[in-house]
Amino acid sequence: KVKRMTAPEIYARKGQVPLVCLTAYTAPVAEILDEHCDVLLVGDSVGMVVHGLPSTIGVTMDMMILHAQAVMRGSDKAFVVVDMPFGSYEAGPEEAFHNAARLLKETGAQAVKIESGPTVHETVAYMVQRGIPVMGHVGLRPQAVNVDGGFKAKGRTESERKKVIQEALDTDAAGAFAIVVEGVAEDLAREITVLVKAPTIGIGASAGCDGQVLVTDDMLGLFDWSPKFVRRYADMRGAISKAAEDYAKDVRDRSFPAPQETYFAK
Ligand code: KIV
Ligand code: NA
Repeated sequence: KVKRMTAPEIYARKGQVPLVCLTAYTAPVAEILDEHCDVLLVGDSVGMVVHGLPSTIGVTMDMMILHAQAVMRGSDKAFVVVDMPFGSYEAGPEEAFHNAARLLKETGAQAVKIESGPTVHETVAYMVQRGIPVMGHVGLRPQAVNVDGGFKAKGRTESERKKVIQEALDTDAAGAFAIVVEGVAEDLAREITVLVKAPTIGIGASAGCDGQVLVTDDMLGLFDWSPKFVRRYADMRGAISKAAEDYAKDVRDRSFPAPQETYFAK
């Protein structure tokens, strides 16, 4: 039986071979990605990418549990991290622990991720001390969309820069096994990566991090728009559209189904 990657193994990858991480939300995609990734993140981006929500605010614990279960069924090698959805951890450590424990118990995933904020230092420490590996997330925080007024790159002013660095240091000191750094300029990403002991995993945060993550559906080219930091490794939108177009034509001109696609009486 294949053994999954572990949190200490990921922590030890600091400054070594870059950590490869992608998001996964379904069993078949997890099965494909599992062969190539160190970490599969069941991101709350699932709300936007799969469910068509305008932001991640509407994502629930039940949604995260269903998708994490699917990803666990589809994978057996990667380390699987589940995002804690908005509202499930910010109020304080005890509620965060309760919800994180539920995510791990009901899915078999190995760790949770929480976005940075005023309670994050205390909450990460509380969870790690009680057996839950935690991935941090600093810089652009999608769950802060309503206070920030949109998805905006972070750390562009000196005070914001200091704040992002402090959040990363606090998350690190609290015992996070890795820290996602999102939407910051290269110099800030490099500075954070030097300052923290945990490996940094960048998204829109330059090659200066200890690893990279992308939203899989973005890098597969499923949408007609993607942010500057995304490299589109496939044109899934084009491929799916072409397949549907061909199918529609074949149905309309009755060339599908053909005899080899048809059952006949014995
Ligand atoms: O929800 C998500 O997909 C994420 C990653 C992009 C880091 O948080
Ligand atoms: Na997320």
